[in-house]
Amino acid sequence: MLKKIVVKEIRKSGFITFDRFVELSLYHPEFGYYTKKRVKNVLGEDFITAPELTSAFGKVLAFYIKKKYQELKLPLRILELGGGKGFLIKDITDSISVDKYTVLEVREKPNWIDGVNWISSLSDLGEFSGFIVANEFFDAFPFKRIVKRGKKHYEVVVTEDRGFLKEELIEFEGEVPCSLNEGEEYPLFMWKDFLWELSEKIKRAYLIVFDYGNSCGELSFRAYRSNRLVNDYLEKIGETDLTASVDFTYLRSLLEKVGFKFVSLKPQSSFLLENGIERFLKPSDVPAALTLLVDMGRKFKVLEVLKEVSPF
Ligand SMILES: C[S@@+](CC[C@H](N)C(=O)[O-])C[C@H]1O[C@@H](n2cnc3c(N)ncnc32)[C@H](O)[C@@H]1O
Repeated sequence: MLKKIVVKEIRKSGFITFDRFVELSLYHPEFGYYTKKRVKNVLGEDFITAPELTSAFGKVLAFYIKKKYQELKLPLRILELGGGKGFLIKDITDSISVDKYTVLEVREKPNWIDGVNWISSLSDLGEFSGFIVANEFFDAFPFKRIVKRGKKHYEVVVTEDRGFLKEELIEFEGEVPCSLNEGEEYPLFMWKDFLWELSEKIKRAYLIVFDYGNSCGELSFRAYRSNRLVNDYLEKIGETDLTASVDFTYLRSLLEKVGFKFVSLKPQSSFLLENGIERFLKPSDVPAALTLLVDMGRKFKVLEVLKEVSPF
């Protein structure tokens, strides 16, 4: 079904850009990977996130927020970007008493979640001061795929030939925030407009971003289905998770442009160990903790930035 919609859009202008393809694949209101209603155990998620792995992740974060609240004297309000299935809400609100918890999430609110302000668009958010948390949110944005060939930059677009979708390259004139070597590919995430809109609503806030990332030049695009890497993502549209590693240098530069100040960037394992994750681990959590600290701990990073009211 989604493929028909994609083909119709391609036929209007000859191609669609890869970020538009990702947007339709993940967020088409009816058939998108994230937005369609899922039947439990029939179509499983293709990833497991830290809050789904163990409640220790959310507990560490909750006590860290409490510590920062005392230090920065910010309101104890939380805005969670991309709340997913709601696990983090429970672990944070079970650990500390929060004045207001808002979740920005395009998916429907799970039935078991109560007492939070669930919004699907930033336009529903009023002026905000407090803490903003984002776990695996920025990697779920639409992205372009930029390729360097013979000193020029090209972007991948999706075209159609007798019902089959194909990838082609067209010249890319925009700015690429990474110096690429010949043949290298770069996932250029479409974060700009979202960050401008978010920043306009923020008076004072401390933002904590958890995501898997790398240095530019080492960032790969990946397609997953049923926990496996797949390459038939042009065919199984809406059934495949499309994602890429986050370029934290670029994300930081955009956040600075919209008024946030850099505080720190560190591996997720350091963040969790420095904030005493062992206090929250039960013996049965050990396998999950190993994944969190060893595997995810190395690939994931934590970026912290602060926005304060301008003194002028
Ligand atoms: C990879 S999931 C992570 C979910 C959750 N944070 C966790 O750790 O389990 C990313 C989530 O962000 C949501 N999302 C991505 N972009 C969004 C946007 N612009 N507005 C609202 N929700 C968004 C998706 O629907 C998805 O549920």
